[in-house]
Formats: sequence, C-alpha cells, structure tokens
Amino acid sequence: MINIQQFRKTIFIETYGCAMNEYDTELVKSILVKENYTFVQNELEADIVMLNTCAIREHAHRKIYGRVHEIRNNRKKLLKVNKYDKSKQSDEPLIGILGCMATNLRTELLENKNLDIDFIAGPDSYKRLPQLIEEAMGTGDKQFDLTLSEFETYSDVLPIRKEGVNAWIATSRGCNNFCTFCVVPYTRGRERSRSVSNIIEEVKLLAGEGFKQVTLLGQNVNSYNDGQADFADLLDAVSGVNGIRRIRFTSPHPKDFPDKLLDVVAQNPKVCKQIHLPLQAGNNRILDVMNRNYTQEEFLALVDKVRHKIPDAALSTDIIVGFPTETDAEFEDTFKVMKQAEFDQAFIFKYSERKGTVASKKYPDDVSEEKKTERTMTLNNLQKEVMFKKNCAHIGQRLELLIEDATNPETANYKPGRTDTNKLVILPIGDYRTGDFITAEITDATPHALKGVQTNILSS
Ligand code: 5AD
Ligand code: SF4
Repeated sequence: MINIQQFRKTIFIETYGCAMNEYDTELVKSILVKENYTFVQNELEADIVMLNTCAIREHAHRKIYGRVHEIRNNRKKLLKVNKYDKSKQSDEPLIGILGCMATNLRTELLENKNLDIDFIAGPDSYKRLPQLIEEAMGTGDKQFDLTLSEFETYSDVLPIRKEGVNAWIATSRGCNNFCTFCVVPYTRGRERSRSVSNIIEEVKLLAGEGFKQVTLLGQNVNSYNDGQADFADLLDAVSGVNGIRRIRFTSPHPKDFPDKLLDVVAQNPKVCKQIHLPLQAGNNRILDVMNRNYTQEEFLALVDKVRHKIPDAALSTDIIVGFPTETDAEFEDTFKVMKQAEFDQAFIFKYSERKGTVASKKYPDDVSEEKKTERTMTLNNLQKEVMFKKNCAHIGQRLELLIEDATNPETANYKPGRTDTNKLVILPIGDYRTGDFITAEITDATPHALKGVQTNILSS
C-alpha cells in the first residue's frame, strides 16, 4: 500500500492491441492529468503502473500476468539497490489493469491470489479511475469497475494525443455484431455513436493543432449512426474541416458498404482510397458459423464494385485460419477468394479460442496447431507474391506522399512517406519535414514497401 502523504501521483502506462486501445490511453491520460497526475516514460519512476490490455490475441493474458510479475520484480530490485539512499527510496507501485482483458477475465483478475494487482477498470469506466486509484491507495484493497455502459462515448473528454500527422478519433464504441470468434461485444459492450456535431468540434481543434490526417475509429466504424447521420454523411462532414487533408477509417464491416458510402470514398478527395474489408474466411459454411452475415459471392461482388467505383483503391483484409471444424477444402475457398481479390495487405491470424464467445461454447478448437501454421504460411506466401506484383506496378509512377515521423530506428536513415492508399514509401533523408506533402517518383519496390525520390514539394 502506498502512503498517501508521500504519494506523488506519477503514472506509467503501457498499451497493447488495437488503435482503439491507443486512443483509450489518450483518453485515460486526459482524465488523470486533470486530477494532477503526471505521466512518466520510465516504469521505475512511477507510483502507478497501468497496463491497457487487449483480449483478442492469443496468449494475451499470459503476457500480461508475466508483465505484472516483472513490474513487481523490477521494483523490488530497485528498492534493494536504493536501500541506503533515502533520497531515492520509493514505494512499491500500484498496478492497474485496464482495457478488454479487464472485462474478459474479470473473475480471474479479481480472484487470482498470485496476481498482485491493485485496481481494474473496463473500457467504459475510465472516468472512475481517479476514485479507484485513491480508494486502492487508501484501503489497500483491490478496487474495480467493470460496468459496461450503453451511453458512454467519452465525448466530453479531449484526449492527450501523441504528436504527429495523424490523430485517432473514436466515432463510435462497442459492437453489436457478435461474430462468434470475437470477444469485443462482451468486453466493450453495445455499439453507440457520438454526434456529428461533437466529432466535428473536435476535428476542428485537431486541425488547429496542426494534424493533417484524422483516422475515424469504431469497432464497426461504418455502421455509425447518430440518429440523423450515417457514416457517409459523417465522412462528408469531417472533410469540410479546413486543414485536415486526409481522412482514414477503421475497422469497417463488409456488410455496411452501401453505394452512398462507396460514392463518398470515390468522390471526396480527402477520403483516402484505402478500404479495409475483413474477409475472415472464404467458405460459406465457415462464414455462416462465424456469423459474418455475408457469403463468398457477396464479398467478391463487393470487391468488384469497389474496384469499379474506385479503380485506384487499395484493399486490405483480416483472415482467421483454423476456425473450428474448418476442413482443408474449406480453407481452399479462403485461398481462392484471396487470390481473386488481390488484397494490398492482409493480416492473417490463427484462430484462438476466446473466453465467453459463442464459438468457445459451441465449437471445440479442433484444428491442430500444425494445420493452422501451415495454412497461415500458405496465405502469407500468396499475399507476399500479390503485394510484390502490386507494388512493382507503381515503379515509375509519381505519387503524392504525406511525410510521417520515423517511428522505428530501422528507418532512422530514411524518411517515411505514405500514399493516400496507405503504402509506405521509403525516401532518402531530404529537405522535407514531417507533415509535408510532396510528390515522389517510385524507383523500386519490395513486397512491403516502395522506394522513391522527391520530385517537388506540394505544400506543408
Ligand atoms: N482468433 C483469431 N483472430 C481473431 N480476431 C478476432 N478474434 C479472433 C480470434 N478469436 C481477428 C479478426 C479481426 C482482427 C482484429 O482480429 O480477424 O478482424
Ligand atoms: Fe468483433 Fe465482429 Fe464486432 Fe469486429 S465486427 S469487433 S470481429 S464482433
């Protein structure tokens, strides 16, 4: 337990999982900074360590449990080193678990005696964090709030965002689809949308702060509806904000692409020509047991329609291999659809049973690990070939790029630029800054990126 008098209110937060979780961390920062907490970069300097967790990935919980033990051990080692130096003495940190794992594994997190955590908050309870922290501090007892709300959208909280060209903005939260493999409807509750006017107010602030791009976020982003406007209306409204030059959105569901929406993507120059179409599986029986609400034929018809309406569009997808009962012949259908659709990018996942889902209750996870690995490799090989072919087709073209921050050390000797279609273009270090728009000629390609040289600066 932390002594309240000595309590300095410093927090270290670590984020796992998807863009929505990254965004939630920005919300959490805003909520706690208002209460005079400070965020620090070093876990060992923090009075409070929070892990904003994901429940989708395999072994997610093992990783988090391991991390909790590691945080405790790191601090114990530090306390030993500083035993005789009063100026450096610090207490054990409070540890909090946030995010999807909090709601998914609530019983285990609350009852597991070997897991030394102090507070737990689900995705709809972040406004209660100051109270949970204070109570955990004052009582020494584990505090939690895992209530899911039908209304919470955090529309009154202005996130503390990372600097850069892109700002995430959640336009809806939760999901009503209940795909049988997915925990999200259980961990994040029912879908609810923010109002267009509230979103536009925030986008204007973002433009004022210099952000060039916004990415609209929702678990099923294109089923957005605030009672008056649908997702196509929202895109048009966001594009009316001066200063914002690119609009992206993730993650959509293939069932929610009416012509009206495709027409906005096709015709509105600010809406990026990049569409994520999560296929998940190409076989109709598997799609049915996944509760995806479309058939192979409907999916391919949508791909055709997108290609017809938006010829330059880049398409990406998510695939799950080894869903329970998936036979070799059924997997072949996924391969065929992928081959026909020619995605620009594909994220291939091995099926992993998630607690609480319909699939976990109805279908034993009966496809062997070897089969899942083999199928993943088959699809990755196909995808690599397709991406190489598609990327090579850009050689010699002149494309508009938005210069991004170099985020990983490997690109320290280069500058990364991004096309409207979300392709990474590696540029030599040059006379351009993050946030500039330039044109570049594409000189070379690999399966995962393009190489280019600047031809002129468009604007910043
Ligand atoms: N097993 C494997 N992959 C999953 N995904 C979601 N749930 C599971 C699961 N239980 C994948 C889907 C989704 C992406 C975000 O994660 O492909 O689109
Ligand atoms: Fe999960 Fe399906 Fe909702 Fe996506 S649409 S969050 S996969 S339930």
